[in-house]
Amino acid sequence: MIEAKSITKFFSVVNEKGLAEGLTAVLNVSLTIPDGKIVSLLGPSGCGKSTFLEILAGLQAPTDGEIVIDGARVLEPLPSTRKEMDAYKRRYRFISPLANGVFHDRPKHDIAMIFQDYAVFPWMTAIQNVIFALKLRNAGADQDKKLSRKALHEKARYFLNQVELGGAAYKYPSQLSGGMRQRLALARALSVEPKIILMDEPFAAVDALTREKLQDDLLLLWEKTRKDPLIIVMVTHDVSEAVYLSDEVIVFSPGPGTIRNRIPVDIKRPRARTNPEIIDIQDRIFAMFQYDINQESDYSI
Ligand SMILES: Nc1ncnc2c1ncn2[C@@H]1O[C@H](COP(=O)(O)OP(=O)(O)OP(=O)(O)O)[C@@H](O)[C@H]1O
Ligand SMILES: [Mg+2]
Repeated sequence: MIEAKSITKFFSVVNEKGLAEGLTAVLNVSLTIPDGKIVSLLGPSGCGKSTFLEILAGLQAPTDGEIVIDGARVLEPLPSTRKEMDAYKRRYRFISPLANGVFHDRPKHDIAMIFQDYAVFPWMTAIQNVIFALKLRNAGADQDKKLSRKALHEKARYFLNQVELGGAAYKYPSQLSGGMRQRLALARALSVEPKIILMDEPFAAVDALTREKLQDDLLLLWEKTRKDPLIIVMVTHDVSEAVYLSDEVIVFSPGPGTIRNRIPVDIKRPRARTNPEIIDIQDRIFAMFQYDINQESDYSI
């Protein structure tokens, strides 16, 4: 279970006059996500969705509030001093978001994150990308849980097969289609067998048909984890994607990001995209956005 307790994030920025100014990106967001649920974060650009997701992942520290996962507090993973940072860099060559969990020994949270534009390393083949994630996890694992080279390879293969990329194991990301790259990012995230997958607009860069296929693939893989329920938290701009995939849609208000509305989607899976109940929920969300736009234009008159 993920518990976000009164999360606030404040940035100092320099304005056009060169003066320091405060910016509240996330304001007092509290949210509980039970195991095995898919939750989408929806809201206008700049309302703090990515910031909130990175705080969930422990990639950024909140200014106020805390994230607790299965009873243990999430600590931001980056070393706090330059000396520590240099030591980590020497050890891991570079800092990757996937390295979360490696930096702090205790408590360890099994979180994998998929970024929209940073999903896979272009200089590694598909299988090297997956093995890289497994190696990071290996580095943080107890001695008796470390995988051998052969086991790493086999596991990487297994997860590539899961996302139907078995045949593309030795291709580089530039040789893959956009949809295949996203599936590779998914395989890499799944390979470390996380309890939580955080996704920041994972399917934004692909065409509509590929996108629907990826959504269904994601649901299939999520179904397979039923025994050990996987939480998926996903940022998206796509209302129909959010409703189709999620158990709950969290709508953020225009910045500073607060939760404007929480919309449960209690519809059994598999769902039909044309299910009238789904369409009805989508319409309600669109109406909400329309209302916000109208409110804004009223102010400007
Ligand atoms: N490191 C930072 N320093 C200063 N301001 C930041 C930083 N990161 C984000 N912000 C600001 O915080 C606000 C929220 O940004 P965030 O990226 O979380 O929005 P978002 O909802 O993900 O937007 P989008 O939908 O466009 O991706 C924005 O005003 C952004 O400019
Ligand atoms: Mg964002």
